[in-house]
Amino acid sequence: MAPTVLGIDSSTQATKALLVDAETGAVLEERRAANPEGTEVDPRAWLDAVDEAAGPLLERAEAISVGGQQHGMVLLDEQGEVVRDALLWNDTRSAPQAEALIEEMGGAEASVEEIGSLMVASFTASKLRWVRDEEPDSARRAASVLLPHDYVSRHLAGGGEAFTDRGDASGTAYYSTRTEEWKPELVELALGKGLELPRLPGSPQEIMARTSSGAAIAAGTGDNMGAALGLSQGEGDVSVSIGTSGVCAMVSPTRPNDASGAVTGFADATGRFLPMATTINAARILEAGRALLSVSHEEMAQLALASVPGARGVTLLPYFDGERTPNRPDARATLTGMSTATTREDIARAYVEGLLCSLADGITALEDRTGTSAATITLIGGAARSEAVQQLAPAIFGRAVTIAPAAEYVALGAARQAAWALSGDQEPPAWTLTDSRTVEAEATPEVLGAYRELKDRTAEWASKG
Ligand code: XUL
Repeated sequence: MAPTVLGIDSSTQATKALLVDAETGAVLEERRAANPEGTEVDPRAWLDAVDEAAGPLLERAEAISVGGQQHGMVLLDEQGEVVRDALLWNDTRSAPQAEALIEEMGGAEASVEEIGSLMVASFTASKLRWVRDEEPDSARRAASVLLPHDYVSRHLAGGGEAFTDRGDASGTAYYSTRTEEWKPELVELALGKGLELPRLPGSPQEIMARTSSGAAIAAGTGDNMGAALGLSQGEGDVSVSIGTSGVCAMVSPTRPNDASGAVTGFADATGRFLPMATTINAARILEAGRALLSVSHEEMAQLALASVPGARGVTLLPYFDGERTPNRPDARATLTGMSTATTREDIARAYVEGLLCSLADGITALEDRTGTSAATITLIGGAARSEAVQQLAPAIFGRAVTIAPAAEYVALGAARQAAWALSGDQEPPAWTLTDSRTVEAEATPEVLGAYRELKDRTAEWASKG
């Protein structure tokens, strides 16, 4: 019998655990538990959630791996106790600190040279700087800093030395994607003192620790790197994930280099790179529209499909919670072009189009900055289940789109990494995705044009808040 492996996704909203056949990638059992709401949460809640979701499956797994939301700052003291609530990737309070750090690092180009990306509020280093500025007592007590997935992995190992991987490390802003080493001097720059950092693996398939019953624990990775593994993304393939965040990610053999900040130059979990364009507003755009119109998600999709391309002149710039791509941390959403004839259908359409246009900008940025046109575009994530999103995506992206079957790709990718560690092979196991389908539609470039025009028009005041 093939060994079974356990893949875990400790995501912003929930913890998901998949027990998977290591040879085929077939999911044998799936469990989940909720994570607390908010952009600042007690990280110990993630440990309870992982016990609830993964606990009953642990004994059946020969290897385990954890994918987790990127960037979150888990600050621990000398005893390994939590110093303060974790600040998550979508907490934008550290935007001024990110700006200050860019300047202190010598500007945008220097930031990209040092860490592979332009520093933004999401990155862990900017959160450390916020702690230095606003909570000197927390800064004084802090002895180490972990990412969410490191914290959960160490819990599964029953304590001991913390560890991480190059993919998640590349989102901290104190790791060099060029030398593949920590840059402790950047922790010092951010916090005003050094901190202990988790161990990095020597190879992506290294076994980093074991559970008390002897199961191997792989390095784990950031959720987006996990999804790329779960989708078996090849070079040039683009995934568009519409979850709490919107993420357009391309697997690339070359280190990205974008000082504009539109594309972050993360490392992936296999030794390649994962340039990404990430938006803070994604699935919640549809949720906001649905709530505004007092309809279900299904009704929202039907309303949107009953309108026309361009929503009869109604355009939504969907930066409800501030935005990261484009970098407008203080922005709010803008809805324009309404007349007395505007219908609920048009509003629903504008919401779906606003979401897809912001993702189309992400795909364009990836293609521009890598100089590679997308080989394939695959939609994943909760909001990718919307019929309106599926039908309108190829029209707005201007090309065919693959709809991946609904699955927990981050947890699946973590399981694939666990199977890889178990095999010790050079390459991760080849698992094939079945039931994908490709959707095509006539392109509607005028919709993206109207969106971009509104984006340009609001640039000045939106960035002022
Ligand atoms: C990526 C990012 C988000 C989180 C979501 O840079 O901030 O996609 O990883 O979990």
